[in-house]
Amino acid sequence: MEADKRKIEEIVNLYENNDFKELNKACEKFLSEFPNSPLGWNLYALSFKNLGNLQKAMKIYENLISENPQTPTLMTNLANIYSDIGRQVDAEKLYKKAIKLDPKSINAINGLGMVYQIMGKLEESIRSFESILDFDMNNKYANFNLAESYRKIGKYDEAIDCYSKAENPLSKSHMLECIYRVKDKKFFTNQLSLLNQENELLNPLMSCIISHASIRYDESFDNPFCNDPIDYIRVSDITENDHYDINVINQIINIQKTESIDDKPQPLLNGGKQTSGNLFKIKNNSIQKIEMLIMEEIDSYKSSFRNSGQGFILNWPKKYELLGWIVDIKEGGKLKPHMHKQGWLSGSMYLKVDKDKSEGGDILFTLDGAGYPNDGKKFDIKKVNVEENKIILFPSSIFHYTTPFEGRENRVTLAFDIKPID
Ligand SMILES: [Fe+2]
Repeated sequence: MEADKRKIEEIVNLYENNDFKELNKACEKFLSEFPNSPLGWNLYALSFKNLGNLQKAMKIYENLISENPQTPTLMTNLANIYSDIGRQVDAEKLYKKAIKLDPKSINAINGLGMVYQIMGKLEESIRSFESILDFDMNNKYANFNLAESYRKIGKYDEAIDCYSKAENPLSKSHMLECIYRVKDKKFFTNQLSLLNQENELLNPLMSCIISHASIRYDESFDNPFCNDPIDYIRVSDITENDHYDINVINQIINIQKTESIDDKPQPLLNGGKQTSGNLFKIKNNSIQKIEMLIMEEIDSYKSSFRNSGQGFILNWPKKYELLGWIVDIKEGGKLKPHMHKQGWLSGSMYLKVDKDKSEGGDILFTLDGAGYPNDGKKFDIKKVNVEENKIILFPSSIFHYTTPFEGRENRVTLAFDIKPID
């Protein structure tokens, strides 16, 4: 039976209005009438994906592709999910198949470029994004992604140019970061006051650059996100949280194996590995329980600093998602200084720290990092001892790193961010 135009328009409208709950219901009804409509199944899968049920969405796409093996859109949509849950190798293969079938599929080429970027194959990612600009030179997403790859390989002037043509919540802060690295003080301060007038400074990366510049240039600049972020580091004990359950902790420690999550190349990490994708996209009981525990800690953090007057507390994002990943460090391993640009509040929960037999591995917080030019200025460092079952929460604008870890057993941490959603 042929699906009629009006019914298709109805479900497409729900998708375009991001009404995924209604879309899910409408697709169920639609598919009971038209069970052979690939478009209906595609939208049904997208509704599951956007409601957070990636496993279900993945199953639908896998079935759909086995029945419609020559459809690049379906391949791209499935590859997007593989990449989200950390299966970058599978995503790469599928994007390539989709591009073979449709060499001008912007979504597939962009997806492939992103997978290369995640895998650290930056030259390949640059070629992918540039190939989009060859036939769509003002594509804002490709310009942003290309700027990101240029920045990651240190081509800051090229990155500044691409960021200026991009549209992404991080474009302006990343452009300021590149300017801070390669342009002079006058250029930087002009750009900073322009961004201040446009109320663009309320985010962790802007705040991090401003904190650094204040010390480097010995001059105070407005910092709407957080002044003195080191004062807002909070350590608590998760065994005191109502959601604490030792069995859940043990399941999370082994989750990379049980859920077949790929490693993510992490140049900041020596002697260890980090999971790819967002752990909280995997919906199983232990992940859901640990998510509840973290959310409760975050609420308690927020309320303990409610009278701080700091911008990141006063302007807490109305909508956000929790991003999480596992960092597994072996003997001698350490994490180099970094901050969490995409976050708002960041944290690490120490799942396994064999303290009796190990030393080091403590976390240090500072306002200096990322190789920013510091003109020889001294920056304070705050050290926090790391112990099993501790959770540390801090504004995402602070650089942090670890001392080399010495111990017989690996140290396993669950790191996470609250990421605002516009
Ligand atoms: Fe971190």
